[in-house]
Amino acid sequence: MGDDRLYEAVGGAAALDVAVTVLYDRVVSDPTVAPWFDGVDVPALRQHQRDFLTVVLGGPDTLGTAARYRGRELARAHAGLAIDDAAFDRVRDHLLATLRELGTPPEGLAEVGARVDALRGDVVSA
Ligand code: HEM
Repeated sequence: MGDDRLYEAVGGAAALDVAVTVLYDRVVSDPTVAPWFDGVDVPALRQHQRDFLTVVLGGPDTLGTAARYRGRELARAHAGLAIDDAAFDRVRDHLLATLRELGTPPEGLAEVGARVDALRGDVVSA
């Protein structure tokens, strides 16, 4: 599934805005992952969720965010944060639950899950 098709399967720009809010609420109210975001201000954290979704869903990306954050850049952004597999899995599950709530079809969820998993090695460092 190409980037734009996946983005449309999730519901496009309007769904992405809702997804950022729902994902944000889930992450900050989960005590197992919230500590990583302590001290990150609200706009930066919302931006994180938006960047996260842009990288994994594709879609219109006029600022080049998705391309910028593949590979080494993603590794650099998370270097030193000591993110472990458990935290990665929690954030991944929050993302999938959010998209499921918003009505993303099962094939779309499977594709998003596969894309997130492909980035594990760039994000996990502990
Ligand atoms: C595939 C999964 C993920 C993607 C695509 C992703 C994406 C990003 C991006 C693009 C940035 C850079 C933002 C910037 O340039 O300021 C970033 C930073 C960050 N990420 Fe992630 N992230 C992922 C997983 C995680 C996980 C699992 C955690 C913690 C449990 C996490 C915590 C953070 C933190 C704390 C920052 C720094 C935020 C700041 O200080 O502004 N990320 N992430």
